[in-house]
Amino acid sequence: MAINIAILGFGTVGSGVAETLDINKDVIAKRVGEEIIVKHILDVREFPESRFADLVTLDADEVFTDKDIKIAVETIGGARIAYEYTKRALSSGISVVTSNKELVSTKGPELIEIAKNNNCCYLFEAAVGGGIPIIRPLYKCLAANKITKIAGIVNGTTNYILSQMKDEGLDFVTALKQAQENGFAEANPSADIDGIDAQRKLSILSTIANDGDYIAPEQISAEGISAITTDDMAFAASIGCDIKLIALYEAGEKPVAYVAPALVDKSNLLYNVNGVFNAIMVDGNSLGQAMFYGQGAGTLPTASAVCGDILEAAVSEPYENRDWTKESVEITPYDEIAADIVIRADVPAKVIGAAEAYECEVLSDEAILVKGIRHKDIAALVSEAGAKSWMHYLK
Ligand code: HSE
Repeated sequence: MAINIAILGFGTVGSGVAETLDINKDVIAKRVGEEIIVKHILDVREFPESRFADLVTLDADEVFTDKDIKIAVETIGGARIAYEYTKRALSSGISVVTSNKELVSTKGPELIEIAKNNNCCYLFEAAVGGGIPIIRPLYKCLAANKITKIAGIVNGTTNYILSQMKDEGLDFVTALKQAQENGFAEANPSADIDGIDAQRKLSILSTIANDGDYIAPEQISAEGISAITTDDMAFAASIGCDIKLIALYEAGEKPVAYVAPALVDKSNLLYNVNGVFNAIMVDGNSLGQAMFYGQGAGTLPTASAVCGDILEAAVSEPYENRDWTKESVEITPYDEIAADIVIRADVPAKVIGAAEAYECEVLSDEAILVKGIRHKDIAALVSEAGAKSWMHYLK
């Protein structure tokens, strides 16, 4: 007996899935009790050089009409063909496992429901944090907690770029090129650089933390890293900080969720998360705090998480699909969110004078920490103080 699966999309992650299932087939068979066999690989290209070339088909019908297929691995990406194929598989009772954060974050409520109605499952451990276990820990290990806060570095490409700018003195464009060569970056790297990828991942994490009350990507304000300069990096270092792209969620009647670059203080564990590594700090009301750390992108780390889901789909019956509400819930408008920020100014006394309504701390002769200021009030303060710039701050 064997469990037959199909891989839809043989790119960076899909090829890693075939590789992982092959190199670890003995332990996987032992753990599942049956062999997992890749029967079809569906793509729009042929891969004559690949050792899996014989499995490749360009014919979707060949895959979807095959009654032997129990699990489909969707590693196509995007929300067009991947959406059609995922619906088609789930509607036929084929479980789908995926690394596709765009699709999960935009169509998750509908796809989870289709899975439930067809007695199969839709699993997406690899959609956030690459190889880091985070979705199942949130759903299972931390199920007894109220999740109060999540602060994470969830995009490997931007973290890699920022690290290379800081440690190697590389410029933005060269660092991005390296990330693309290493297979971390999205097909359109603007999704990484502009914070869209992190926004999608935060949508998934926030919805899970918010007990399935759906928070859609478009509700989440996202700012990327393209405006960060080497001068900003040097300024950060001068106050004992580093700059990271942070995805933040805070529970509440109207939860808080946004993505923005932030100065991260040395005392914060996220300070030491460099290169393509991701880390997600989770606060639970029973747990306290835990940090999930590991390789956030790349072929085999992401394939590791996808394959974990394949095993889960292979052994778990009846399937568990956690409902996400169809309608998104209200969150706090970005303008209303109170944040801690660092204002950079030549005359700190002017900032302190203008910010008398807030708790302030002088960090250096050009940096003042202002606590708990609403986003909508920042521009006026910066202008009144004649300041150069400001940035979020995470202690
Ligand atoms: N482009 C993504 C990143 C890939 O750099 O994190 C993993 O989701």
